[in-house]
Amino acid sequence: MAKITKLDDIVSLCKRRGFIFQSSEIYGGLASCYDYGPLGVELKRNVRAAWWNSVVQMRDDVVGLDSSILMHPLVWKASGHADKFADVIVECKKCNTRSRVDHLTSGAEEHTEHVPVETAMTDAAALDKKVCPNCGQVGQFTEPMAFRLMFETQMGANVDDTMRLFLRPETAQGIFANFRNVLDSTRVRIPFGIAQIGKSFRNEVTTKAFIFRTREFEQAELEFFCEPGTDDEWYEHWRQQRFEWYLSLGIKKENLRFREHDLDELAHYAKACVDVEYRFPFGSGDWQELEGIANRTDFDLRQHQRGMRTLNSWFEKKGDLSQIELNSEADNYHKGPLSYFDDQTKKRYIPYVIEPSAGIDRSALAFLVDAYDEEEVRGETRNLLRFHHSLAPTKVAVFPLVKKDGMPEIAVKIYDDLKGHFTCFYDEKGAVGRRYRRQDEAGTPFCITVDGQTIEDSTVTVRQRDSMEQVRVATDQLKNYLRGELEL
Ligand code: GAP
Repeated sequence: MAKITKLDDIVSLCKRRGFIFQSSEIYGGLASCYDYGPLGVELKRNVRAAWWNSVVQMRDDVVGLDSSILMHPLVWKASGHADKFADVIVECKKCNTRSRVDHLTSGAEEHTEHVPVETAMTDAAALDKKVCPNCGQVGQFTEPMAFRLMFETQMGANVDDTMRLFLRPETAQGIFANFRNVLDSTRVRIPFGIAQIGKSFRNEVTTKAFIFRTREFEQAELEFFCEPGTDDEWYEHWRQQRFEWYLSLGIKKENLRFREHDLDELAHYAKACVDVEYRFPFGSGDWQELEGIANRTDFDLRQHQRGMRTLNSWFEKKGDLSQIELNSEADNYHKGPLSYFDDQTKKRYIPYVIEPSAGIDRSALAFLVDAYDEEEVRGETRNLLRFHHSLAPTKVAVFPLVKKDGMPEIAVKIYDDLKGHFTCFYDEKGAVGRRYRRQDEAGTPFCITVDGQTIEDSTVTVRQRDSMEQVRVATDQLKNYLRGELEL
């Protein structure tokens, strides 16, 4: 039976094998920022590719987008983030540590992602029994205060035209802001979706558990536009699709579940929301959000129609967002610039939006945790990552058994032949058993070894990562054999 994985095992394997490093480690590290090393970058590329394949490439009703991280400040006024995207925090009077009110426990379960400010304020009413997570002091907190989660930056060098901007806290708004552009430049018809993968930034108060919650992270988001009244159906569709995606990439079913949001947890834009949760090996309840699927209604497109009409006021108030009210004057929502005209039914409406929003880093962590295994082999512990073949950073490793008798030359030739087709790795250093173990830890599904018999009959051994079984394959059949086995 597979061993229960501890996060420490994963963190140390990631460092040892070059998956993930602490950012700026040579300067003592930068809290909650991480760098992906040679194997990690391949894993992440594969996670992105699997998402894109399922959400964009395999569908006829979704197109892609890559919008910029920096956007006009009014975007964030219209979306509600400038006013509402905050955590309610308190400071412990004893140790001065700041904590999210919704993360303080007195035995109750914590919320994983941000809850609306109003909900957190209700939680804050019962602070006398809450425990400081840093020093353990009970009920010794300052008055709750709102802490804005968006990072700010400055654009432009001239005093007159500098602008205070935000680093985007979600990629979704780049999609809404381009809704009209995509409609006008492509042949899409509702129902259709726009997908994008990209970096988002949040000045998280509580970061935790390795790459689970960081201040810079990557999201994979789909905004699926549909006619009002069909939204419940599409919500159901995308819930199922997204759950299946994790299972299809090897996540064990017992580690995955849905969790519906209670009404008081819903974000300001959502009519309904469900989390796909994974049983991570940390945290109070183990089950943690992997992805959220929300019914965002027509909230965002309506808000951007208001935002577009607020530009004059924005200039007048010199860009001070706190002084600006969104313009809802003479607001004919259904005929606005972000409405949709269905030329078959002759109906015009603001589309509803179903949004599956996943984290690439968080998915990568779930895939790492789920794939991790330890087993006893001939009195020794074998650590391995049983990655789904499509996620494995390296698909094939090629070794000469020894560094003589012409074996390296044959192995290099095989490696050169295969590397145009699969991610390959060549290794001739050390005992072959140790080379196998290194590849097991990297999650490489196949190792090819050139040995004495290769010189006689042009066959090599191909060893499978999971079963450790070895078969002999003719060198001129290797490509086909691997293609079949890897299903690529
Ligand atoms: N557009 C909707 C949205 O951003 P969210 O639940 O705040 O919703 C969606 O984020 C997903 O993005 C989460 O399920 C998680 O996978 C990922 N995510 C959010 N904040 C994160 C953080 N600080 N670090 C890593 N991943 C994060």
